[in-house]
Amino acid sequence: MKKIFKITKILVMIFLLNTITQSKTIIVGTNAEFAPFEYLDENKIVGFDIELVQEIGKRLNRPIKIKNLSFDGLIPALQVGKVDLLIAGMTKTPERAKFVGFTNDYFVAKQVLIVRKDAVEPKKVEELKGQKVGVILGFTGDLIITKIPEIKSEKYNTIFSAIMALNTGKVDSIIVDSAPAKSYVAENKKLKIVEIESAEEKYAIAGKKNSPLLEEINVILAEMLKDGTYDKIVKKYFK
Ligand code: ARG
Repeated sequence: MKKIFKITKILVMIFLLNTITQSKTIIVGTNAEFAPFEYLDENKIVGFDIELVQEIGKRLNRPIKIKNLSFDGLIPALQVGKVDLLIAGMTKTPERAKFVGFTNDYFVAKQVLIVRKDAVEPKKVEELKGQKVGVILGFTGDLIITKIPEIKSEKYNTIFSAIMALNTGKVDSIIVDSAPAKSYVAENKKLKIVEIESAEEKYAIAGKKNSPLLEEINVILAEMLKDGTYDKIVKKYFK
């Protein structure tokens, strides 16, 4: 009898230990319309950010589940707990930092303009006064342009639909992050990229404010930089 008790006790302890250490899935929100950071390849969400966060999951010993949402729905989804983290080429801004916590940055970007090949090349945003600029809803480019009342802006839900509008002459230019601009223009022979004076933007992973997970990720990001994993992923997506 005593022996049975002992065995049961051991079994219960093993069960408890297992549940405690059992790796809980991390749900990560993204917006897969931002190649090469996140995009759909035959219905599969892939890209630089996706690979980065999968590797983070591996090192945390927790499975990663990716949820594809609209970009302007990402921060609200995090706030209501629908997702645990956001990775979406998201620029760390003071405004967003009021609502979410950010990790250290993992990528530096700039805003550029996409124009038709025959267009004169503006050098700075101020030169766009009187023109119609396509912006993507909620992106930092949208926030920059909307602050200047003399510039008319048209809002689009995706880079793709903004590019269609540019191709058909509905807008004179589009403002968007440099790396995605390159990847979308590569498929559009009639368009070109114009560099403008713009501030550096730093991409970071977002989580709930004060979440301990953010600190754990910072440690992993530093490790990945040191051991070459980060560079390997960069090489794969930025040729
Ligand atoms: N870096 C810009 C921002 O934070 C654009 C990010 C868009 N990302 C995306 N996955 N759609 O506003």
